Amino acid sequence: MFVGIVILVLNVLRSVSSQPSADEWYRLDDALYLVDNTSRLNYDDAQSQCLEYGANLARVDSDEIQSFLTTFISPPSMPTRCFWIGCHDREVEGQFKWLDGTQVRYNGWASYQPDDHGENQDCACLWSSKNPNRHGRWDDNTCGARLDLICQKGVSLPGLTSGPSVEDISSTFVTVSWSSWIPCLDTGEGPVVSYLVYLQTMDGEWVEGGGIDSDVGEGDLQRRMEFVLTGLEPGNEYNISVSAVREGVGGEGPKGPLVSVTTSIESGSLFGALGKSNLIWILFGVSLAGNILLVVVIVITCRRQRKQQKKKTLPNLSRAPSGHDPKDHQYEVPRAVGDGDDHIYEGLQRTESSINKESSYLSIDNTDRVEYVNTNI
Ligand SMILES: *[C@@H]1O[C@H](CO)[C@@H](O)[C@H](O)[C@H]1NC(C)=O
Ligand SMILES: *[C@@H]1O[C@H](CO)[C@@H](O)[C@H](O)[C@H]1NC(C)=O
Repeated sequence: MFVGIVILVLNVLRSVSSQPSADEWYRLDDALYLVDNTSRLNYDDAQSQCLEYGANLARVDSDEIQSFLTTFISPPSMPTRCFWIGCHDREVEGQFKWLDGTQVRYNGWASYQPDDHGENQDCACLWSSKNPNRHGRWDDNTCGARLDLICQKGVSLPGLTSGPSVEDISSTFVTVSWSSWIPCLDTGEGPVVSYLVYLQTMDGEWVEGGGIDSDVGEGDLQRRMEFVLTGLEPGNEYNISVSAVREGVGGEGPKGPLVSVTTSIESGSLFGALGKSNLIWILFGVSLAGNILLVVVIVITCRRQRKQQKKKTLPNLSRAPSGHDPKDHQYEVPRAVGDGDDHIYEGLQRTESSINKESSYLSIDNTDRVEYVNTNI
């Protein structure tokens, strides 16, 4: 049982690892072709081999496909050989069909072919030959012959099912982001190697705005991709769309859903980003604050001036009998308590009173100090 599982796993691994890598498939329109010049199989095994790759022996039904394939089987030194393709007349002699049962209408035969040589040639192959009349043309061959083969499978290119979202926008750039391509959820086949970002301008034309590598490692399920589109015109409307690109020539899938954006009008300044109405409010606020500040400054200045005037008028003494100059900073006018003629001064004791109402006081604490107070104030 265990051994059985191990063998099964090994077989699975072997069949997976024997799959041709993506860059071995050549793409033309919606088909991928694999030119296998190493296997050397009979017709049935060749078809089985293709089936293992999810493909069939190639259907070569146009000049375009014929000449496309010819470019991959034509190294000049290559010896003459024939590659199985999906065309045979095994059912009714002379009635060639493709593997899906449809009749072969395109004539890709080399001169004098098919000839059913020996009445035993029912399977078609495509020549690689130095003879130009033969190169890339078909021949009928014995189905049991061991030849090279060309497989073909349909390709559905990867596409994103959801559009990008706008992360940031200014007058000249837009930052968009999108989810990386996910098998099952998104359309087509991976692996996706990069993304292209497109812009549709107002004249309806799509232009490529740039691209980025997918950068999704094995095991990464989903990633947020981000791209900055620059050099946009201010105040313009744009549609933005992203396409996923798989390996190989022509591997770009269809454009995904689009998002519409309009760049802002102002040039890329701070005020531009803020918008016009906001700018008006900001200017209003700034001028209001300025006015308030001005009023405060005026009030403070006036008060100071008044205080200075008060200081000047306070020692309004006609004279200072003690000899102290009233302007002398040592001359203090004691603070009056009470009112009327009979002023009482804090910390002072009245000693005499005179007609001119100028009184002299003694300091209670320091009797050597005499203060004269003009009670006219
Ligand atoms: C087989 O095909 C490959 C790819 O086209 C080519 O490089 C190589 O030379 C071919 N080998 C032979 C033996 O023809
Ligand atoms: C954007 O796409 C919409 C819908 O397809 C279309 O009507 C519009 O004109 C487009 N705008 C631009 C700027 O291309």
